[in-house]
Amino acid sequence: MVYGEYPIVRLRRLRRTSLIRDLVADVCIRVEKLIMPIFVKEGIENPEEIESMPGQYRWPLNDKLIKFIDDCYTHNIRNFIIFGIPKHKDSIGSEAYSSDGIVQKTVKILRETFSDKILIITDLCLCQYTDHGHCGIVRQGRYGPYIDNDDTLKIYAKIAISHAEAGTDIVAPSGMMDGQVRAIREALDNAGFRDVAIMSYSVKYASSFYGPFREAAYSAPRFGDRKTYQMDYRNIHEALREVALDIEEGADIVMVKPALAYLDIIKLVKTHFPYIPLAAYNVSGEYAMVKAAAKMGWIDEKSIIIEILTAIFRAGADMVITYHAREVVDILH
Ligand code: PBG
Repeated sequence: MVYGEYPIVRLRRLRRTSLIRDLVADVCIRVEKLIMPIFVKEGIENPEEIESMPGQYRWPLNDKLIKFIDDCYTHNIRNFIIFGIPKHKDSIGSEAYSSDGIVQKTVKILRETFSDKILIITDLCLCQYTDHGHCGIVRQGRYGPYIDNDDTLKIYAKIAISHAEAGTDIVAPSGMMDGQVRAIREALDNAGFRDVAIMSYSVKYASSFYGPFREAAYSAPRFGDRKTYQMDYRNIHEALREVALDIEEGADIVMVKPALAYLDIIKLVKTHFPYIPLAAYNVSGEYAMVKAAAKMGWIDEKSIIIEILTAIFRAGADMVITYHAREVVDILH
């Protein structure tokens, strides 16, 4: 059949029914590839809904959290990344490496309750634990305060060991200090935790998409911003240097964050480093925008969530950290 001069190539044949479309689809979401973030707050009895992240909670460390994790478990969400919200902050974030800190206690209880049936990842940073809200140690320099890279590494090493002692599977350093992966790998190895893996926030941009998280975790910097350690979003190829270094330093999994406005970076990293598992973090601001538009009735929330996550996988992510993880299970069924 020709139309005018040219034959018609009928690509629509493979779009005719949903069965054909499913059969030929390149990318599918699998819940095994999703990681659910969990906020655990010290000193509360009941979950507190996070205002800027409807449907997400600061959990108390009690049976209510266990019940929620159990519900995720029965719905096939098995991977969790834990964020602690401590009662006390100080200038060096000492609660972050305390053996009875909120993350350490949470990991112990989850491990006792669920053994190896769930995968526990622990975010490793200082910003929730320091009174100034920065991800490292603040020093006074000639030009004002700055974040001291190498002193911060010593603290990260302590945090890593405390998480490992509590029973974490994977530590996820998110502070963007230079050399953090090597410092943590060495500390873990020297302490005998050779099997604890490192998921590095290798390519973490200084982003306004983290706003709701900082409200959730009370971790906004009290002065200045994070631009002297997190990446400048105008940069492209610096992402490859960050990933190359992290691989060399011993990262087992690398990450790009945020995800949705950074699909080009996910694609670039996957193309250049196809041999290392790549995580993407579908961050709080991305979640909040979906929830806000859905609340207004401006979007079809369920299909938008699936479209966004599919796009992140299509760009090249092997796994996605997403606040939507639990609801995705219901949407897919
Ligand atoms: C801690 C950390 C942040 C996020 C994950 N780990 C906040 C930040 O860097 O300010 C953001 C996650 C999100 O927005 O969902 N450094």
